[in-house]
Amino acid sequence: MAPPSSPPSPLPVSNGCLIILYASQTGNAMDVAEHVCREAERGGCLAVDVLSMDIFNPSCLPDEGFMIFVESTMGQGDPPDSMKGFWKYLLQKHLGAWWLEGLHYAVFGLGDSGYQKYNFPAKKLDQRLLDLGAKQIIEKGLGDDQHPAGYEGALDPWLQSLWTSLHETNPLLLPKITDIIQPNLDILGDAKVEVRYFLAPEDEIEKGPIHPPSWSIDPYTRSMSPTLKFYNDGEPHYMLRIVTNQRLTMEDSERDVRHFELEDPCYGINYQVGDSLEILPTQNPAAVDVFIECCKLDPDCYITIEAKGRIGIPNCSIMNSSTDRIKPKTFVALTMDVASASPRRYFFEIMSYFATAECEKRRLKYLASPEGMPFESEGEEDDLSWYNQKEKRTVLEVLQGFPSVQMPFEWLVQLTPPIKKRAFSISSSPLAYPNQIHLTVSIVSSLTPLERKRYGLCSTWLAGLRPNKGVCCFF
Ligand SMILES: Cc1cc2nc3c(=O)[nH]c(=O)nc-3n(C[C@H](O)[C@H](O)[C@H](O)COP(=O)(O)OP(=O)(O)OC[C@H]3O[C@@H](n4cnc5c(N)ncnc54)[C@H](O)[C@@H]3O)c2cc1C
Ligand SMILES: Cc1cc2nc3c(=O)[nH]c(=O)nc-3n(C[C@H](O)[C@H](O)[C@H](O)COP(=O)(O)O)c2cc1C
Repeated sequence: MAPPSSPPSPLPVSNGCLIILYASQTGNAMDVAEHVCREAERGGCLAVDVLSMDIFNPSCLPDEGFMIFVESTMGQGDPPDSMKGFWKYLLQKHLGAWWLEGLHYAVFGLGDSGYQKYNFPAKKLDQRLLDLGAKQIIEKGLGDDQHPAGYEGALDPWLQSLWTSLHETNPLLLPKITDIIQPNLDILGDAKVEVRYFLAPEDEIEKGPIHPPSWSIDPYTRSMSPTLKFYNDGEPHYMLRIVTNQRLTMEDSERDVRHFELEDPCYGINYQVGDSLEILPTQNPAAVDVFIECCKLDPDCYITIEAKGRIGIPNCSIMNSSTDRIKPKTFVALTMDVASASPRRYFFEIMSYFATAECEKRRLKYLASPEGMPFESEGEEDDLSWYNQKEKRTVLEVLQGFPSVQMPFEWLVQLTPPIKKRAFSISSSPLAYPNQIHLTVSIVSSLTPLERKRYGLCSTWLAGLRPNKGVCCFF
């Protein structure tokens, strides 16, 4: 769209639509976007769209009335990959000072104040939108990994101001602010995932392809599975085989640092000195078994999984189609981080609906409430940051801590953090080792305040791999 050359015209009245655009590298900003969407819907907003920035056409910005931008920071103050095209478009010189005169917007950034360029992309986006004539609904919010409650520490108060301001200026867009501030925790909406169960492969066989029950969860099979899309379509990836896994530190040393040699048996790998490699780990099968049992899922059944909402559910994205069937154990092992990541606050809220023991329900409601969140650097020992973040409780541990809760599997698929890739710097040169990659990996372990030992998912998994095992890698 051509930039306007005329002076500003009056602001448009809301068409009732709120667009939430997010740019996320590892999923946090997408989580926040989903959170914002949920609250907007609670507040009576009739049309909320949640979109990744790379699928929104920036030339349409002047046609929008109300937008929320949620974006994280990567590298050294860089925007996530999905924001790069959008940002380049906004930087065009010919876009004038009134180009976005009709847009009301708010920006929430995710970053880590331990980095020098703290939340740079959010700060720059906010300034650029202002320069292009857009109107701030409220001052930008900045989530910080260093806060005891993580980015959620800043998100709550920021959202309260956002909804108050939107409600005051545009009650048609957001009519029911009290439903956001004091949500009725006795009303549970629908999960955004639909799970269908089939007792046996022969069951309703005409409705979709069935895969052999002996299907293995070795990561090497991921690329060959007809059911599962290979992770991150379009991203360069390799299935490398472990050649060497050698401990560098002494056996009696507390630190376990290892030298790994990974090889592509088919052809040379294209990398440069200084590159890093991302590895997608697999979960401990024993933990997956316990989780399946805890959910009372029949390990021999088959399931189909489909995301119903407008926002993508990361855990559903590996399925090619809603009719493909998969065993629950395979699905959980490949997608849901049940035994290493901590659940988010919304997980506790949804758990509270399903608690049948009154004391558990009360505690879960407290943990999910703003009172259960610390806003200052010193958390209370019974608040969410202690119970969850500091103690690094996993989804499985949280479920085991509240035995009266029987959470339906569709909610667990929706809310369990996805298994994420981990980065490691390449310590070899392609000139010396054309078809190999060497890594020096420190096996992550730490003690929680209650002295519970925690282990890093990926480094611990790598440490246990023997030569010839496959590792799913991305550049
Ligand atoms: C570009 C890049 C390059 C990297 N290169 C390397 C490399 O060459 N070698 C290498 O070993 N690592 C490297 N890392 C770090 C590595 O990616 C992380 O350590 C990664 O989290 C390890 O994955 P994991 O699954 O084993 O641990 P995770 O399951 O991700 O667990 C890490 C968790 O443990 C916590 N934690 C870690 N240590 C402690 C501690 N001492 N006390 C309290 N909590 C702690 C963290 O907060 C985090 O929550 C790199 C990271 C980046 C971004
Ligand atoms: C490799 C890496 C680089 C980062 N660089 C920065 C940075 O330069 N500045 C900053 O404020 N935060 C930085 N962060 C913190 C992230 O922005 C923060 O963890 C955020 O919650 C990630 O959100 P996402 O999951 O949506 O990508 C970095 C995080 C990682 C893992």
